[in-house]
Amino acid sequence: MSENERLSNINPNEIFHVISALQFKHEDLLILFELADKIRNIAETKAGLDFLRTILSHKRAVLYFAQPSTRTYLSFNNACQILGIQTSDMRNVGNSSEAKGESLEDTLETIHSYTDLLIIRHIEENLAEKAAWMYNNSDRPIPVINAGSGPNEHPTQALLDAYTLYRAFKGNIKNKTIAVIGDLKRGRTVRSLIRILNNFEYIKFIFISPIVLKIPEDVKSYLLKNNIVFEESDSLDSCIKTADVFYYTRIQDEYDMQNESKAINYTNLYLNPEYLSKMQENAIILHPLPRRAEIPPDIDKDKRAWYWKQEINGLWIRTALISYIFKIDGYILKYK
Ligand code: NCD
Repeated sequence: MSENERLSNINPNEIFHVISALQFKHEDLLILFELADKIRNIAETKAGLDFLRTILSHKRAVLYFAQPSTRTYLSFNNACQILGIQTSDMRNVGNSSEAKGESLEDTLETIHSYTDLLIIRHIEENLAEKAAWMYNNSDRPIPVINAGSGPNEHPTQALLDAYTLYRAFKGNIKNKTIAVIGDLKRGRTVRSLIRILNNFEYIKFIFISPIVLKIPEDVKSYLLKNNIVFEESDSLDSCIKTADVFYYTRIQDEYDMQNESKAINYTNLYLNPEYLSKMQENAIILHPLPRRAEIPPDIDKDKRAWYWKQEINGLWIRTALISYIFKIDGYILKYK
């Protein structure tokens, strides 16, 4: 079964589980962007926050994060709290029964007994999808959100990336040239970003990486099949003056087999004042974070640096996503 077919089994017509960026249609994205803007606006006052906090106060969520996380964890936890959802954490697998040899299936079964929503990050590829299948076949299906699974997908990062483009370009995402730089081979955010941006017309990608970290063949097939224009390069020279977006990523050395990243030279692609001086005035610089040396902190002051805003956008779009899953979006949009 193809990935698309598998996903359509999980989610026939609506967003319930969030497993892949492929699930989001253009209309879902527009609803989510509008909802995120509305929620951040409501949250500016105490009365607004008090309103939001009552909406899902009868729900519980488990945040099962078996891989390191700062932003994704904090933003999901806070998104739940904004909507009144009570959260429990499983962050250190050493403290759970997995350390006693419990199978992942039994762990998922146990989580199901205690929650109305599972938000999951795990090194095991497709574990979110597996949980969604299990829960669909139970007497009480509950939604599962993939918060990053192996090197495969990170759909909610893609949502916040797209939401950031929406805000940066005042709603007009189409017709943009997006330079994606770094570890294109193993970065899950890049895979999900490409899939979500397939909802917008005339997007052109320029993939820039050290040779050994080039975009994988299956992603290229996806781009070709969907008629998405792209180029590959190992230098920024060809696009530094023309790209609208510079999406940086770090080297994903946690997936190394034998410390092979140590031999990779990425420094020629690091952002520096010379590159910055050549960029368009209204270009934007994104990074899913955490960063290493590819974007020096000095650049944070530049008005084109959008990565800290991107982080905040993650909170509001994840709050919007949870609202959408629990079908309270219409209720929130009516708030005056
Ligand atoms: C990303 C991830 O986990 O894939 N981080 C995040 O969620 N913002 C990117 C990364 O770790 O490099």
